[in-house]
Amino acid sequence: MRALVMTAAGGSENSQVQEIDAPRPGPGEVTIDVAYAGLNFVDVMARRGDGGYTAAWPHLPGKEVSGTVRELGEGVTGLAVGDRVVAAPVGGGLAEVAIAAAVLTVPVPDGVPLREAAAVPLGLATAMLLLGDAGRFAAGDTVLVHSAGGGIGHAIAQLVPLLGGGRLIGTVGRPEKAAAAVEAGYDHAFARDADLLDAVREATGGKGVDLVLDPLGTEALDLDLDLAAHGGRIVLFGNAGGGALDALPPLGRLMADNLTVTGFSHRAMAAGDPARLGRAIRRVLDLLAGGGLDLPVTELAGLEAVPAAHDAMQERRALGKYVVRVSG
Ligand SMILES: NC(=O)c1ccc[n+]([C@@H]2O[C@H](COP(=O)([O-])OP(=O)(O)OC[C@H]3O[C@@H](n4cnc5c(N)ncnc54)[C@H](OP(=O)(O)O)[C@@H]3O)[C@@H](O)[C@H]2O)c1
Repeated sequence: MRALVMTAAGGSENSQVQEIDAPRPGPGEVTIDVAYAGLNFVDVMARRGDGGYTAAWPHLPGKEVSGTVRELGEGVTGLAVGDRVVAAPVGGGLAEVAIAAAVLTVPVPDGVPLREAAAVPLGLATAMLLLGDAGRFAAGDTVLVHSAGGGIGHAIAQLVPLLGGGRLIGTVGRPEKAAAAVEAGYDHAFARDADLLDAVREATGGKGVDLVLDPLGTEALDLDLDLAAHGGRIVLFGNAGGGALDALPPLGRLMADNLTVTGFSHRAMAAGDPARLGRAIRRVLDLLAGGGLDLPVTELAGLEAVPAAHDAMQERRALGKYVVRVSG
């Protein structure tokens, strides 16, 4: 089968489509003929060589796919060969055949296109879990999202109205990305510069925000604490810069305003509580089937186009969600 293979830490010069053996499922696993695969920043972090994102080279990237069940491993029930599914593989999703745990392989409801479904197992499911499980979002909350112009940023903008609605403030690394964030559903979008705190205070009438969703490691944490309203929640869910992380804030700073700082990791939930992640994937698929959720995706024509799209993500030029058509 054809698969995207990352051969060493670096950039697109070390990413090639290669012919490798197709995986076979072990007990509790499923293989999938991949129709579409989603692109995610975690693959860029692995490609850069960030600590903890790849165990060894060559590395097979790709952590969300849609397609049809190819083969069932021993003990798998509730799925059949040929079923339309999405899945969250540990890796190797940017390939013609992917392997995933059955608990993280979920049937796609009739009427939901596999192209859009490919954005569910990692991207949209993470957005749902950030808002619900980690962020305790309640209707009417003001939510601030850093890097609002990317795949996760757009997914959050789609989900908030479906969860009762709220006020959405996005931040972007470059001012020219602000318009796209507003188009994606943000009420306000601001560049992350020295004026951000004042801009957010003005937009919230001085109150601050109820929920901050922050994938920037700890570089913006001090600002997040200043941006949060009384009782605010801050969810840290990434380290886009890949640098060293600072200590968490002192207890006194949290107690002074009843603030919560929480971590979230899709990978940790896939390993530690996969049934919970599976339920989030199902819930988002049901929203897609109901017609209320519409996440626009940019389709790449084949695996060969992926390294350049990873470049755009790494160089902070990417806008919205990318999926690649693998076959079919
Ligand atoms: N914890 C989890 O389970 C989980 C799951 C999915 C995604 N994430 C995180 O959520 C973020 C968004 O993911 P995505 O897949 O939707 O990617 P994306 O937003 O489409 O692309 C990554 C964005 O990160 C921002 N960024 C900030 N600092 C950066 C840096 N030093 N180098 C490169 N980019 C930087 C850039 O936007 P701006 O310049 O506008 O800030 C860039 O466009 C990523 O940080 C990812 O790791 C975490």
